[in-house]
Amino acid sequence: MSVHKNVKRVTTKVLQTMKNEGQKISMLTGYDYSMARIIDKAGIDVILVGDSASNVMAGHETTLPITLNEMIYHASSVVRGVERALIVVDMPFGTYQGNSREALSSAIRIMKESGGHAVKLEGGREVIESVTRILSAGIPVMGHLGLTPQSIYKFGTYVVRAKESDEARELIEDAKLLEASGCFAIVLEKIPSELATEVAKAVNIPIIGIGAGNGVDGQVLVVHDMLGINNEFNPRFLRKYHNLYQEMLGSFQRYIEDVKSGDFPNDDESY
Ligand code: KIV
Repeated sequence: MSVHKNVKRVTTKVLQTMKNEGQKISMLTGYDYSMARIIDKAGIDVILVGDSASNVMAGHETTLPITLNEMIYHASSVVRGVERALIVVDMPFGTYQGNSREALSSAIRIMKESGGHAVKLEGGREVIESVTRILSAGIPVMGHLGLTPQSIYKFGTYVVRAKESDEARELIEDAKLLEASGCFAIVLEKIPSELATEVAKAVNIPIIGIGAGNGVDGQVLVVHDMLGINNEFNPRFLRKYHNLYQEMLGSFQRYIEDVKSGDFPNDDESY
Protein backbone atom coordinates (compact mmCIF):
# COMPACT_ATOMS: atom_id res chain seq x y z
CA MET A 1 0.00 0.00 0.00
CA SER A 2 1.23 3.50 -0.76
CA VAL A 3 2.80 5.51 2.07
CA HIS A 4 0.26 8.31 1.97
CA LYS A 5 -2.67 6.03 2.87
CA ASN A 6 -0.88 4.57 5.91
CA VAL A 7 0.15 7.75 7.64
CA LYS A 8 -1.83 9.05 10.59
CA ARG A 9 -0.50 12.58 10.15
CA VAL A 10 1.07 13.97 7.01
CA THR A 11 4.36 15.72 7.72
CA THR A 12 6.89 17.47 5.52
CA LYS A 13 8.95 14.25 5.70
CA VAL A 14 6.03 12.23 4.38
CA LEU A 15 5.76 14.60 1.40
CA GLN A 16 9.46 14.14 0.68
CA THR A 17 9.03 10.36 0.81
CA MET A 18 6.13 10.66 -1.60
CA LYS A 19 8.28 12.59 -4.05
CA ASN A 20 11.14 10.10 -3.66
CA GLU A 21 8.76 7.22 -4.36
CA GLY A 22 7.00 8.93 -7.25
CA GLN A 23 3.64 9.23 -5.47
CA LYS A 24 1.61 12.31 -6.35
CA ILE A 25 0.74 14.79 -3.61
CA SER A 26 -2.82 16.14 -3.36
CA MET A 27 -3.44 19.62 -1.98
CA LEU A 28 -6.54 21.81 -1.75
CA THR A 29 -7.20 25.13 -0.10
CA GLY A 30 -9.40 25.32 2.99
CA TYR A 31 -10.54 28.30 5.02
CA ASP A 32 -13.10 27.08 7.56
CA TYR A 33 -13.78 24.24 10.00
CA SER A 34 -16.68 22.48 8.20
CA MET A 35 -15.09 22.36 4.75
CA ALA A 36 -11.66 21.43 6.15
CA ARG A 37 -13.22 18.47 8.02
CA ILE A 38 -14.66 17.07 4.80
CA ILE A 39 -11.48 17.66 2.78
CA ASP A 40 -9.43 15.94 5.49
CA LYS A 41 -11.87 13.02 5.70
CA ALA A 42 -11.49 12.56 1.93
CA GLY A 43 -7.78 11.90 2.51
CA ILE A 44 -6.11 15.02 1.16
CA ASP A 45 -2.37 15.25 1.87
CA VAL A 46 -2.07 19.03 2.35
CA ILE A 47 -4.59 21.75 3.17
CA LEU A 48 -3.43 25.22 2.22
CA VAL A 49 -5.05 28.05 4.13
CA GLY A 50 -4.48 30.27 1.13
CA ASP A 51 -4.62 34.02 1.05
CA SER A 52 -7.09 33.34 -1.77
CA ALA A 53 -9.46 33.60 1.23
CA SER A 54 -9.22 37.29 0.43
CA ASN A 55 -11.03 36.56 -2.88
CA VAL A 56 -13.31 33.62 -2.21
CA MET A 57 -14.22 34.26 1.43
CA ALA A 58 -14.07 38.04 1.70
CA GLY A 59 -14.88 39.08 -1.88
CA HIS A 60 -11.81 41.25 -2.46
CA GLU A 61 -10.55 41.61 -6.01
CA THR A 62 -6.97 40.64 -5.05
CA THR A 63 -5.17 38.78 -2.27
CA LEU A 64 -3.55 41.97 -1.00
CA PRO A 65 -6.08 43.20 1.57
CA ILE A 66 -6.26 40.11 3.81
CA THR A 67 -4.58 40.67 7.19
CA LEU A 68 -2.45 38.49 9.44
CA ASN A 69 -5.27 38.38 12.02
CA GLU A 70 -7.73 37.25 9.36
CA MET A 71 -5.37 34.52 8.12
CA ILE A 72 -4.88 33.33 11.69
CA TYR A 73 -8.67 33.22 12.15
CA HIS A 74 -9.11 31.08 9.00
CA ALA A 75 -6.15 28.85 9.85
CA SER A 76 -7.25 28.17 13.43
CA SER A 77 -10.73 27.21 12.14
CA VAL A 78 -9.13 24.76 9.69
CA VAL A 79 -6.85 23.33 12.39
CA ARG A 80 -9.89 22.45 14.53
CA GLY A 81 -11.36 20.37 11.68
CA VAL A 82 -8.29 18.43 10.57
CA GLU A 83 -6.79 15.21 11.91
CA ARG A 84 -4.51 14.00 9.15
CA ALA A 85 -3.50 16.59 6.56
CA LEU A 86 -0.47 18.86 6.78
CA ILE A 87 -1.78 22.41 7.22
CA VAL A 88 0.17 25.15 5.42
CA VAL A 89 -0.77 28.78 6.05
CA ASP A 90 -0.13 31.59 3.58
CA MET A 91 1.74 34.60 4.93
CA PRO A 92 -0.32 37.57 3.78
CA PHE A 93 0.99 40.48 1.74
CA GLY A 94 3.03 42.94 3.79
CA THR A 95 3.92 40.58 6.63
CA TYR A 96 7.27 39.26 5.33
CA GLN A 97 8.57 41.48 2.52
CA GLY A 98 9.73 44.40 4.72
CA ASN A 99 12.53 42.67 6.59
CA SER A 100 13.36 39.24 7.92
CA ARG A 101 12.68 40.16 11.58
CA GLU A 102 9.14 41.14 10.71
CA ALA A 103 8.81 37.99 8.59
CA LEU A 104 9.88 35.83 11.51
CA SER A 105 7.51 37.49 13.97
CA SER A 106 4.61 37.10 11.48
CA ALA A 107 5.44 33.42 10.99
CA ILE A 108 5.70 32.88 14.74
CA ARG A 109 2.27 34.49 15.24
CA ILE A 110 0.79 32.16 12.61
CA MET A 111 2.30 29.05 14.22
CA LYS A 112 1.49 30.05 17.81
CA GLU A 113 -1.99 31.45 17.32
CA SER A 114 -3.39 29.15 14.61
CA GLY A 115 -1.73 25.80 15.30
CA GLY A 116 -0.85 25.42 11.59
CA HIS A 117 2.16 23.28 10.66
CA ALA A 118 4.01 25.39 8.10
CA VAL A 119 3.90 28.71 6.27
CA LYS A 120 3.99 29.58 2.58
CA LEU A 121 5.31 32.78 1.08
CA GLU A 122 5.65 34.13 -2.44
CA GLY A 123 8.90 34.95 -4.22
CA GLY A 124 12.45 33.78 -4.79
CA ARG A 125 15.76 35.60 -4.26
CA GLU A 126 14.02 38.77 -3.00
CA VAL A 127 12.62 36.93 0.05
CA ILE A 128 15.47 34.51 0.73
CA GLU A 129 16.60 36.35 3.87
CA SER A 130 13.10 36.07 5.31
CA VAL A 131 12.84 32.41 4.33
CA THR A 132 16.17 31.63 6.02
CA ARG A 133 15.24 33.46 9.20
CA ILE A 134 11.84 31.76 9.48
CA LEU A 135 13.47 28.37 8.89
CA SER A 136 16.06 29.10 11.56
CA ALA A 137 13.24 29.21 14.10
CA GLY A 138 12.21 25.69 13.12
CA ILE A 139 9.20 26.74 11.07
CA PRO A 140 8.80 24.80 7.81
CA VAL A 141 8.49 27.02 4.72
CA MET A 142 6.82 26.30 1.39
CA GLY A 143 7.86 28.54 -1.50
CA HIS A 144 5.65 29.89 -4.29
CA LEU A 145 6.99 30.87 -7.74
CA GLY A 146 5.59 31.65 -11.19
CA LEU A 147 2.37 33.62 -10.99
CA THR A 148 2.54 35.23 -7.57
CA PRO A 149 -0.82 36.95 -6.98
CA GLN A 150 0.54 39.26 -4.26
CA SER A 151 2.61 40.97 -7.02
CA ILE A 152 -0.37 41.49 -9.34
CA TYR A 153 0.15 45.25 -9.50
CA LYS A 154 3.77 44.74 -10.58
CA PHE A 155 2.83 42.39 -13.43
CA GLY A 156 -0.59 43.86 -14.20
CA THR A 157 -2.13 40.58 -15.36
CA TYR A 158 -2.83 36.99 -14.34
CA VAL A 159 -1.55 35.49 -17.63
CA VAL A 160 0.89 32.54 -17.79
CA ARG A 161 4.33 33.47 -16.40
CA ALA A 162 7.90 32.57 -17.39
CA LYS A 163 7.19 31.96 -21.08
CA GLU A 164 10.34 33.88 -22.01
CA SER A 165 13.69 32.18 -21.49
CA ASP A 166 15.12 34.87 -19.15
CA GLU A 167 12.22 34.60 -16.73
CA ALA A 168 12.25 30.79 -17.01
CA ARG A 169 15.98 30.69 -16.16
CA GLU A 170 15.41 32.99 -13.17
CA LEU A 171 12.58 30.80 -11.98
CA ILE A 172 14.76 27.67 -12.06
CA GLU A 173 17.50 29.55 -10.16
CA ASP A 174 14.95 30.72 -7.58
CA ALA A 175 13.61 27.19 -7.11
CA LYS A 176 17.18 25.93 -6.47
CA LEU A 177 17.77 28.81 -4.06
CA LEU A 178 14.60 28.02 -2.11
CA GLU A 179 15.62 24.37 -1.94
CA ALA A 180 19.14 25.27 -0.79
CA SER A 181 17.67 27.54 1.92
CA GLY A 182 15.71 24.61 3.32
CA CYS A 183 12.16 25.02 1.96
CA PHE A 184 10.30 21.70 2.13
CA ALA A 185 8.25 22.22 -1.06
CA ILE A 186 7.42 24.82 -3.72
CA VAL A 187 4.16 25.78 -5.41
CA LEU A 188 4.50 26.64 -9.10
CA GLU A 189 1.57 28.64 -10.39
CA LYS A 190 0.54 29.12 -14.02
CA ILE A 191 3.75 28.44 -15.93
CA PRO A 192 4.39 26.28 -19.02
CA SER A 193 4.24 22.53 -18.26
CA GLU A 194 7.64 21.92 -19.80
CA LEU A 195 9.29 24.43 -17.46
CA ALA A 196 7.45 23.07 -14.41
CA THR A 197 8.59 19.53 -15.28
CA GLU A 198 12.16 20.79 -15.63
CA VAL A 199 11.97 22.42 -12.16
CA ALA A 200 10.55 19.24 -10.60
CA LYS A 201 13.54 17.35 -12.01
CA ALA A 202 16.08 20.02 -11.07
CA VAL A 203 15.23 20.07 -7.35
CA ASN A 204 14.79 17.23 -4.88
CA ILE A 205 11.95 18.79 -2.86
CA PRO A 206 8.28 18.33 -3.91
CA ILE A 207 6.90 20.69 -6.54
CA ILE A 208 3.15 21.29 -6.33
CA GLY A 209 1.55 22.76 -9.43
CA ILE A 210 -1.49 24.85 -10.21
CA GLY A 211 -1.77 25.46 -13.92
CA ALA A 212 1.70 23.92 -14.28
CA GLY A 213 0.90 20.65 -16.04
CA ASN A 214 1.29 17.05 -15.00
CA GLY A 215 5.05 16.67 -14.80
CA VAL A 216 5.25 17.94 -11.22
CA ASP A 217 4.98 16.08 -7.90
CA GLY A 218 1.48 17.14 -6.91
CA GLN A 219 -1.45 19.44 -7.64
CA VAL A 220 -3.32 22.15 -5.77
CA LEU A 221 -6.64 23.85 -6.55
CA VAL A 222 -8.72 26.43 -4.75
CA VAL A 223 -11.59 24.45 -3.25
CA HIS A 224 -14.28 26.97 -4.25
CA ASP A 225 -13.05 26.78 -7.85
CA MET A 226 -13.01 22.97 -8.12
CA LEU A 227 -16.47 22.79 -6.56
CA GLY A 228 -17.78 25.31 -9.10
CA ILE A 229 -19.01 27.75 -6.45
CA ASN A 230 -17.88 30.71 -8.55
CA ASN A 231 -19.45 30.21 -11.99
CA GLU A 232 -17.51 33.11 -13.49
CA PHE A 233 -14.01 31.69 -12.96
CA ASN A 234 -13.12 29.26 -15.75
CA PRO A 235 -9.37 29.20 -16.44
CA ARG A 236 -8.02 26.40 -18.62
CA PHE A 237 -6.17 24.72 -15.72
CA LEU A 238 -9.30 24.33 -13.61
CA ARG A 239 -11.13 21.00 -13.50
CA LYS A 240 -14.59 21.47 -11.96
CA TYR A 241 -15.83 18.49 -9.95
CA HIS A 242 -19.23 20.01 -9.23
CA ASN A 243 -21.49 22.86 -10.19
CA LEU A 244 -22.21 24.00 -6.66
CA TYR A 245 -23.21 27.46 -7.83
CA GLN A 246 -26.27 26.00 -9.60
CA GLU A 247 -26.97 23.43 -6.87
CA MET A 248 -26.85 25.99 -4.10
CA LEU A 249 -28.84 28.53 -6.07
CA GLY A 250 -31.55 25.89 -6.62
CA SER A 251 -31.62 24.91 -2.93
CA PHE A 252 -31.90 28.52 -1.78
CA GLN A 253 -34.67 29.16 -4.30
CA ARG A 254 -36.63 26.08 -3.18
CA TYR A 255 -36.25 27.10 0.49
CA ILE A 256 -37.53 30.61 -0.27
CA GLU A 257 -40.52 29.18 -2.14
CA ASP A 258 -41.29 26.76 0.71
CA VAL A 259 -41.20 29.56 3.30
CA LYS A 260 -43.30 31.93 1.18
CA SER A 261 -45.89 29.27 0.36
CA GLY A 262 -46.17 28.16 4.00
CA ASP A 263 -45.05 24.61 3.06
CA PHE A 264 -42.10 24.82 5.48
CA PRO A 265 -42.16 23.79 8.27
CA ASN A 266 -44.69 20.96 8.12
CA ASP A 267 -46.05 19.03 11.13
CA ASP A 268 -43.07 16.60 11.15
CA GLU A 269 -40.70 19.53 11.28
CA SER A 270 -42.48 21.19 14.20
CA TYR A 271 -42.60 20.54 18.00
O1 KIV B 1 -3.79 31.38 -1.95
C1 KIV B 1 -3.90 30.35 -2.63
O2 KIV B 1 -4.98 29.76 -2.76
C2 KIV B 1 -2.71 29.83 -3.29
C3 KIV B 1 -2.88 28.71 -4.26
C4 KIV B 1 -3.43 29.21 -5.53
C5 KIV B 1 -1.64 27.95 -4.46
O3 KIV B 1 -1.64 30.32 -3.07
